[in-house]
Amino acid sequence: MPKILITSALPYINGVPHLGHMVGCLLPSDVYARFMRMQENEVLYIVGTDEHGTTSEVGALKAGMKVEDYCLMNHKRHYQTYKDFNLSFDYFGRTSSEQNKELTYRIFEALDKNGFIEERVVKQIYSIDDQMFLADRYITGTCPYCGYDKARGDQCENCTKVLEPTDLINPKSTISGSTNLEVRESKHLFLNLPKIEPTLREWLKTKEAFWPEVAYSIALKWLKEGLEPRCITRDLKWGFPVNKKGYEDKVFYVWFDAPIGYIGITKQWADEDPQNRDWKDWWYDAKDVYYVEFMGKDNVPYHTITFPATLLGTGEPYKKVDFLKGASYLTYEGGKFSKSENRGIFAEDAVKEFPADYWRYFLMSNMPESSDTNFSFDLFAGTVNKDLNGVLGNFAQRVLKMTASKIGSFVPQGSNMTDEEQTLITTLQEHINLYFKYMKEMEFRKALAELRSIWVEGNNYIARTEPWVVIKENEERAATILRVCLNLIRIFAILSAPVMPNTAEKMLGKFGLSLDTSRGLKDFNVQKEIDFLKPGTPFEVGDMLFERIAPERVIELQEKYGRSK
Ligand code: MF3
Ligand code: ZN
Repeated sequence: MPKILITSALPYINGVPHLGHMVGCLLPSDVYARFMRMQENEVLYIVGTDEHGTTSEVGALKAGMKVEDYCLMNHKRHYQTYKDFNLSFDYFGRTSSEQNKELTYRIFEALDKNGFIEERVVKQIYSIDDQMFLADRYITGTCPYCGYDKARGDQCENCTKVLEPTDLINPKSTISGSTNLEVRESKHLFLNLPKIEPTLREWLKTKEAFWPEVAYSIALKWLKEGLEPRCITRDLKWGFPVNKKGYEDKVFYVWFDAPIGYIGITKQWADEDPQNRDWKDWWYDAKDVYYVEFMGKDNVPYHTITFPATLLGTGEPYKKVDFLKGASYLTYEGGKFSKSENRGIFAEDAVKEFPADYWRYFLMSNMPESSDTNFSFDLFAGTVNKDLNGVLGNFAQRVLKMTASKIGSFVPQGSNMTDEEQTLITTLQEHINLYFKYMKEMEFRKALAELRSIWVEGNNYIARTEPWVVIKENEERAATILRVCLNLIRIFAILSAPVMPNTAEKMLGKFGLSLDTSRGLKDFNVQKEIDFLKPGTPFEVGDMLFERIAPERVIELQEKYGRSK
């Protein structure tokens, strides 16, 4: 059985995930994982929180908490949100775990032994009142180029010039507001990327034919601009203490241990249950593993250059990415999501407003794959009302109700199928083959369009065959049509399961079935499946699968979550 390793970029622990985060990597990785499991692959799907760094220290400070407690609290909050969205990760871990520490040390030691680590002295701004070195973005001052007085230490928002913190006029700490700053020298460790570059280039070349064009071109652009040694240590407390003599009071930079977290979290998973495979089965000399990474486009350089270079530099056979799916951004009602400006709907609120499947379907069918896409409540309500309620929900309800009232609450017998059904079967199979193809290629918008077409075929079939008319003259023929339609409900449920797992359960539940005991998607053959539910199988009509979203509700939501700017 092919083994597929799937990771989603690990969300920053301080961030509150919004729909953009969900659609950028978390949701597509889940849909892909569910699909691949249903195709009978062995899947390991890893997610977790990215915890180290200044932002966590500052966040904890603001919350008046110890950074450990603060991270644990936020870790639980992230976990709950993703559970509510029905993410089916095998493990939701933490980059601050003991296991990740062990792996970070192991990888660092190998890099050091191979001569890829070098020492350098750097000048940094130290805040005497805050008693800490300030990361670039925690310093503001006046831009020397345009005079903007809120320029940050890494960049001026006003004129977009990239800055060094020491360029700023009248710099101050954004943590305390203190201007009591001084430049101090500090010794740091650098990963010598230029020295690893030849190996990296060779490895990258083997990916050219397989990676999406965007990902590959971003990697090449970085190479073209020239690689610089990257500082991998920081003067902070919250992080893994550097395991090298003379550096014990420093920690590794968050971007050094975060991607190693994929491996560390796998080890967390493996340690938890002796039944689980060893982390090495997935990550070390694992030739039978196909590794797919999901991320937003801002993450692509780290995952195509820095992290692979880190692994290559060890000289050991760590698994590196085979395919990576990058996403563009989702905007909110034409603007940016912003927690501080209270604009945009955040993931934990989203699932309180509507069931997860509404979001999963909407976001996946509008995924910002090749360019940014916009979220608006109008669009959202339109999709739920038209696709989910109008096409899928309506079909199921109509068929169940009609059968129950005209024949009885069981699958009717009827007689043999006709050319009409053969046409339906052929058309459905074509759509299904395309749906699977796009899912395997991670072309999610196209895949979801096929899924919708599959549901539409159900509606077309019932509109063509008109069982409610036929029943007046030919009860047996009507029974055949309804038998086929009831089977379509089951087929639609199984096909929709990677995208809408709860809805799939609800649909199967009407026949006393569940996903666990149903067939998967491997070699899915409509000709066979159309006869799965035998005559006499009882069903329940129950409620509509989806609720319509009224125009007043849209206005209410826009008011609650902010309109466009
Ligand atoms: N926390 C980072 C972000 O949200 C992603 C880190 S991915 C990792 O952009 F692999 F490095 F963890
Ligand atoms: Zn400026």
